[in-house]
Amino acid sequence: MKAIPSYWIPHLEEKLQKINRIAAEGVTDSFIFISDIHSENNTLLSPALAQYIKEKTGIDRVIIGGDLINGNKEKEKALAAMNAILDELAPLRPYVVRGNHDQNTDWGPITPENFFYDTLYRERVLGIAANVCEPGKFYGYLDVPEAKLRYFFLDTGSCYSEAFGSMDGNYDWVGGRTAPYQEQLVYLKAKASELPSDWGIIAVQHILLGGGLVDKHQITNIITGCLLDQLDEIAADPNAPTVVAAFCGHNHLDRMIVSPAGYPVISLTCDGGGSSSWDWDHNNRTRTPGTTEEQAFDVVQIDRASRTIYMTRIGVGRDRKCRF
Ligand SMILES: [Fe+2]
Repeated sequence: MKAIPSYWIPHLEEKLQKINRIAAEGVTDSFIFISDIHSENNTLLSPALAQYIKEKTGIDRVIIGGDLINGNKEKEKALAAMNAILDELAPLRPYVVRGNHDQNTDWGPITPENFFYDTLYRERVLGIAANVCEPGKFYGYLDVPEAKLRYFFLDTGSCYSEAFGSMDGNYDWVGGRTAPYQEQLVYLKAKASELPSDWGIIAVQHILLGGGLVDKHQITNIITGCLLDQLDEIAADPNAPTVVAAFCGHNHLDRMIVSPAGYPVISLTCDGGGSSSWDWDHNNRTRTPGTTEEQAFDVVQIDRASRTIYMTRIGVGRDRKCRF
């Protein structure tokens, strides 16, 4: 983990003041959310910044929204990059959801994902943190009983989506489009319905919002629609827990959309720079090394009493706030 350069300290102190002020007013639960690290394009100070915030605030949970690496046509190169970034993140004990780039694909043939599961995910990702994880699967959940919250960490189903791909081992890359697969929607519904109605659920998945114009299409398209439909169904059931929010990365933009069922769908821009930010994040193209604009991630604080989610930005971008 890198040392934090001195030019970060005033920025961190200002943000810590705000985070501590919100915490003092009373929050139910908090976490650090980092997404789209794309380690090949990243200054990689965020692990150290997150560790600093953990120590100063007591906020212990770190959630990674996917795309640790850029992806690579060659399996060994992809594995080396993935291992390197997981080593960097390991001290944070993060909860990780898989992004569409977290494999050896770069618009070419890919290795069957059970290779990635067996060599990497079982021990290195899923083994790190999620306290209840389905054996052999890329998804699981975490309960925070004191906050009456259940976090679902869901997969993009990137290699074998039921919408686009094959599930027989002859994986065809399908133009980069991914979808949550049916099996985990059944799991989400079952695991949500077993909770008392005074609990809340939070879903984290890599792809929930696209990169185009913000309109209704963005939350009903074929890629994300089935997962959001399932969350809508839970949200509409008076006996089911409250759907507090859904968090994602993928589009490399800061976005918030309210689903038809009333919960916010929140995307976080990329932590990485280079083409990750320049090609995608037209609001914050920088990530300039040597400045506090070299990284971008959020400290998320949830207050269930006022039904408010506070997102304090570390690095480039704005602080955000929304209701649920
Ligand atoms: Fe990404």
